[in-house]
Amino acid sequence: MTDQFGREISYLRLSVTDLCNLRCAYCMPAEGVAKKRHAEILSVEEIGELVSAAAALGVRKVRLTGGEPLVRRGIVDICKAVAQTQGIIETCMTTNAVLLPDFAAQLRGAGVSRLNISLDTLNPERYCALTRGGDLASALRGIDAAREYGFAPIKINAVLIDGFNTDEIRELASLSRLADTHVRFIELMPIGDSADFSGGKYVSDGAVLRAMPELEPRGSDGVARLYGFPGASGTVGLISPISSHFCPSCNRVRITSDGQLKPCLHSADEISLRGLHGAALLDAMRAGFFGKPRRHALDTGKISAAARNMNAIGG
Ligand code: GTP
Ligand code: 5AD
Ligand code: SF4
Repeated sequence: MTDQFGREISYLRLSVTDLCNLRCAYCMPAEGVAKKRHAEILSVEEIGELVSAAAALGVRKVRLTGGEPLVRRGIVDICKAVAQTQGIIETCMTTNAVLLPDFAAQLRGAGVSRLNISLDTLNPERYCALTRGGDLASALRGIDAAREYGFAPIKINAVLIDGFNTDEIRELASLSRLADTHVRFIELMPIGDSADFSGGKYVSDGAVLRAMPELEPRGSDGVARLYGFPGASGTVGLISPISSHFCPSCNRVRITSDGQLKPCLHSADEISLRGLHGAALLDAMRAGFFGKPRRHALDTGKISAAARNMNAIGG
């Protein structure tokens, strides 16, 4: 269906847990997050019902997010339920890859078609520091597992952080020379309790083009402006939520792991879908989709109006 500004809503980002096996400084508080009670988070059955309703309203693509989706108990069953929903033609996941050696084969079997992987540095000490204890080698093994089990293309997301990884732009971008691999640099968004960390570390993605003037324009994938090294089939993308936001063409809505519909990432508005079924569920969802705000107000120097931390939204 279309929203009040004529945008076709076809993409649902569904967060399945707030928990994560990492603690990225721009996403989560250092102490982690309190585990929600079992009853607070959506069950596999509820997720199936919500995705069916979304599909009835025209959603065709679902991306499972978190926190880290692979720490959610029953994640393989959730993937199956989503992928088998009538009307859903693409089931994707965004993951930090650490658990992929255990899960890649099962995800493939469950009908997940594509994986996006968060990786902000190729330096083990930096990775450990940013993720507050993570092991880079585990994440790289996870990316290898994704390839081994046939996930393609793989998109690697790297958040640009001034003074942290801007000297690695070329090395990270060079991953796009590997087969079926795309790299996207994301502008750091100050959001929730981590807004303090993000203050002063924002760097416009113009830095990427300045670092690699040889990049050639290659169109867009919806959110990212794409470029590529001459001769390389992989692309280097720029996701610029701050310097040039894509709100006018935004096709997405979100549902949090506790069943709140979020029509916009950076708005505090949430609509509870919990306990609704059938026509009541469809009506509430339709109203939420329709009322999606025109744009977010996260300009340079501002903090997101979202009422949650990133790990509780899913990006
Ligand atoms: P594809 O399906 O491969 O196009 O993936 P995607 O870009 O939709 O999903 P991914 O999870 O890889 O998200 C990439 C980045 O875009 C993350 O940093 C998100 O936070 C950011 N992002 C995703 N959706 C939105 C949005 O609606 N608004 C803004 N401002 N940023 C978003
Ligand atoms: N700013 C920009 N990107 C972020 N992500 C998480 N938090 C932020 C933030 N504050 C990214 C992750 C992941 C994607 C879903 O969102 O790195 O790749
Ligand atoms: Fe976990 Fe992703 Fe947040 Fe990092 S950015 S703490 S990997 S949810």
